[in-house]
Amino acid sequence: MKKVITYGTYDLFHKGHYNLLKHAKELGDYLIVAVTSDAFDKARGKLNVKDSLVQRIKNVENTGLADEIIVEEYFGQKIDDIKKYNIDIFTVGSDWRGYFDYLNEYCQVIYLDRTKGISSTELRNRKSVNLGIIGAYDIVHRFKNEMKFVGGVNLIGLYDEDYNKSERMALKESIILYKDIKSLYYEVDAVYICVPPKEHYKYIKNALLSDKHVLCEFPFCLNEIEGKELFKIAEERNLILMEALKTAYCPAFCKIVPIVKSGLIGSILSVDACFTQIHGNKINHQIELASGGSVNALASYPLLAIFKILGTDFTDVNFISKFNADRIDIFTKFNVLFKHSIGTGTVAIDAKNEGDLTVVGTKGYLYVPAPWWKTDYFEVRFEDINKNNKYFYKFDGDGLRYEINNFLECINNKVSSIYWNKKEILSVVSVIDKFRNNKNIFEI
Ligand code: CTP
Repeated sequence: MKKVITYGTYDLFHKGHYNLLKHAKELGDYLIVAVTSDAFDKARGKLNVKDSLVQRIKNVENTGLADEIIVEEYFGQKIDDIKKYNIDIFTVGSDWRGYFDYLNEYCQVIYLDRTKGISSTELRNRKSVNLGIIGAYDIVHRFKNEMKFVGGVNLIGLYDEDYNKSERMALKESIILYKDIKSLYYEVDAVYICVPPKEHYKYIKNALLSDKHVLCEFPFCLNEIEGKELFKIAEERNLILMEALKTAYCPAFCKIVPIVKSGLIGSILSVDACFTQIHGNKINHQIELASGGSVNALASYPLLAIFKILGTDFTDVNFISKFNADRIDIFTKFNVLFKHSIGTGTVAIDAKNEGDLTVVGTKGYLYVPAPWWKTDYFEVRFEDINKNNKYFYKFDGDGLRYEINNFLECINNKVSSIYWNKKEILSVVSVIDKFRNNKNIFEI
């Protein structure tokens, strides 16, 4: 009996998939179809698959062409499968020509002609979100690059109230320039806002009142009352309003929270997170945007870790700060107090410390090495080092693709983000607001 195997995602099942399976079946007597798992697709950078694994398997099953269906879960599984199932022929579409030649060592490799004019990517893109960028800052370059890795979004154009600045940026990045914001709104469903934080409230409100979904750079805004008002408008108009705090959406960070909450390291007593920079004369993008000191520019990150792990019911917050001659805090350590635990953040724009994250529990601790906000790896450690465990995840590129992907998912499915929600965002705003109003600050 000649056994054939083929691999694919089979998202939004289409004619091309059917033809491929039909021709694969004709190559032998027994066809095994391996359908990629969601985790494997994410790991190989395919972020925007629409159908669930169960649905994709069902669709392959419905063709009646597969004698057996398996799930592809890891890199290198193909060799294992070929040996395990005694495969004679490995086949995929011609878009992969040459890529799997290394499998010739184990079985015959055949590339079948791909059906022209159809693909899952194209079907996914049919419902594309049209997006505009407001703000001509350096991050536009990274944002635009990362968008390419997420299907289903078209970059329509750029607007900044400083026309010369936006003209330079539009030219540099080959983005269409909009001279007035209303004409940009006319073309888009959603906007990404990257203007200085003191302008966030104004631009978010304006975009929401023009019925646009909003993804806004951090810190979301600087005033708690204004933050609440923005979410109220978004809710009333059924619009998605999200903060672009990239770590919140990244695979490794998203795994930290459930592991910690599972009780593996016992009851959590403290979360210590650090984010420091020395900018000297070189103005860093975020500091430039924040037009303030360490808390304004950087506290969102430690607070993300604290609120995700300890919840948002804090009882008090205090700050220990070093201010420069211009009354800008160049270094701040802050404590967020909870009933049974404490969160500590260290932020600096002119001092340096290890940028790591530690979660202290009664049975052990979780350690994320620097830079923890870009992590692809963390460790769970115990008194008995034999019980220690390392966890590895994917962190591609600049990491912005994960927040963009979630923004699109939320728009398409009409749901709020589960990764970084209104309550958490507003809790960060309330801490920054307290600092700006000189509450509980001890100067050193
Ligand atoms: N395939 C094909 N003809 C098409 C599309 C896909 O023969 N028009 C084949 C692929 O070469 C692969 C299998 O179908 O062997 C499963 O492909 P998959 O990657 O799931 O489908 P695509 O439509 O190519 O998906 P995407 O656009 O997400 O890459």
